[in-house]
Amino acid sequence: MELTVALIQCNPILGKLDVNCEMISSAIQSTEADIIVFPELCTTGYLFTSKDILLPLALDKESEIIKNFHDQAREKNSIVIIGFAERDNNVMYNSAVLLSPEKEKPIIYRKTHLFYKEFLCFEQGNTGFFVVEEKEKNVRIGIMICYDWRFPESARTLALQGADIIVCPSNLVTDVWHIAMPCRALENKVYMAVANRYGTEKNKEEELVFKGESALWGYNGTIIAKAEKNGDAIIKGIINPSKTRDKAFNSINDIFKDRRAEMYLQ
Ligand code: ACM
Repeated sequence: MELTVALIQCNPILGKLDVNCEMISSAIQSTEADIIVFPELCTTGYLFTSKDILLPLALDKESEIIKNFHDQAREKNSIVIIGFAERDNNVMYNSAVLLSPEKEKPIIYRKTHLFYKEFLCFEQGNTGFFVVEEKEKNVRIGIMICYDWRFPESARTLALQGADIIVCPSNLVTDVWHIAMPCRALENKVYMAVANRYGTEKNKEEELVFKGESALWGYNGTIIAKAEKNGDAIIKGIINPSKTRDKAFNSINDIFKDRRAEMYLQ
């Protein structure tokens, strides 16, 4: 079964929860796709350095805003993944929520590897990596967030658990990930979907430039769709999840069966 994946490239405004959530809603409404992926921290923007400022903007997974996004996902029959600042009482996580039409509750992944000043606001994620099985669309989705990519164990763990596609909400500030992502796709035989933001954020004296170029790679590491460095974009590509499940690449070799886990450092 073929599925359409859409990556939403956008430029969330720092601290403007209402404006950003409005943007997310209208992108869900206007996008026809089976899987829709938004960037990291899409509800709030990125460059927070104070818990006190971020906490009132962070969302509980049971919040009305998340419920509304979930209702929209159900209406569109789309699986929607959104990076957001999550609040669990007074603790915050850099999280992604997966909203599935066939699931009653939102599913939350909390970023495992925090980057740079994220340590000032967020706790390290405690969900670990896991795969979401979608029965109606016959797809298994793994989630990682941005800097998780620097650790090949992230993608490997998801692939070993059976992911067909790894979605990666991102706020990437370098260009080197374009070298790594197709490798993660190839060595795990999975699709890789990176929804990255673009634009500039300034907080006090510090400025960050986000690199856009959201992209979808096929399981052989070939590029399927790619956005420009700047500008709002909805880029789409077709995937065939069942094609990732046979890890053999000739009559003898299979990239998972050939692994020698006992020879690797644990
Ligand atoms: C990043 O993890 N936002 C680079």
